Amino acid sequence: MSRSFLRSADLSRDDILNLCDKARNYRDQTLKILSHKIVGLLFFENSSRTRSSFEMAAYRLGAQCVYIGAEGSSIAKGETELDTARILDCNGVDALVVRTGTNGMPAAIAELCRAPVLNAGEGTLDHPSQGLLDALTLLDHFDGSLEGKTIAIVGDIAHSRVARSNMHILPTLGARVKLVGPQSLLPSDPGDACALHNDLREGLSGADAVMTLRIQKERFEGDAIPDEAAYHAQYGINHTTLDWANHGAPVLHPMPVNRGVELSGDLADDAARSLLWQQMQNGLIMRMAMLEEAVHG
Ligand code: NCD
Repeated sequence: MSRSFLRSADLSRDDILNLCDKARNYRDQTLKILSHKIVGLLFFENSSRTRSSFEMAAYRLGAQCVYIGAEGSSIAKGETELDTARILDCNGVDALVVRTGTNGMPAAIAELCRAPVLNAGEGTLDHPSQGLLDALTLLDHFDGSLEGKTIAIVGDIAHSRVARSNMHILPTLGARVKLVGPQSLLPSDPGDACALHNDLREGLSGADAVMTLRIQKERFEGDAIPDEAAYHAQYGINHTTLDWANHGAPVLHPMPVNRGVELSGDLADDAARSLLWQQMQNGLIMRMAMLEEAVHG
């Protein structure tokens, strides 16, 4: 039976661990289990990583892809995202991968379409495939368990769908989450499993891993946008500030990175401390696992 991936909060601990196992199996083999299937890629917002890795994942499983973006499509003529999704659905795609700036759009598309829908980033709300690939990266780093680990997420939490996915997925796996940033970029609804910190040193204290986030300027206006140099001085993660976390704690970032703002370029490129490129590789195999499960169940 096919299944949609709409919300991180729908994922149980077993779902997450099973998807991680499935993804690991694709590290050394590719099975053409989606040959003769067609995956629709609807990217109504900019994307490099998520789009290319879903597309590569589909090709590696033997599927073919049809892509529609906001530019060069009838979206530019005023067509709605829902109507656009229905074009591909009516033509018989086997799965729809959707990135949108509109909260609620993947669920609205799933409601109207026959094909399973995979949320590839939804406004400020959710980014399940990123949360899952982050979980896989951390599980592999910590020998298969996050039980009792503390993960600090630093930066623009308020506008981050990546943070929101991780705020569900990491505690589901037994981790404690500390959300760190200036008051204007912290969420008003952190939930019971996540603590809030304005002070970076305090937020990093006791952290076993540190996840940094870009300031998502495209998602808000006005005074909340900090001056970049001042922001790095107060909240930037570099070799010095990373040492405030537990000894040897690695750094993660969903990318794109604004080097020198939320994360120093030196640290991003330091293979001994940075898991950024492991996250990238895990993105491909996690999306293979999600597509397999979306189409075949
Ligand atoms: C993130 C996103 O689009 O939410 N990027 C990604 O998918 N890897 C994070 C961001 O844009 O900062």
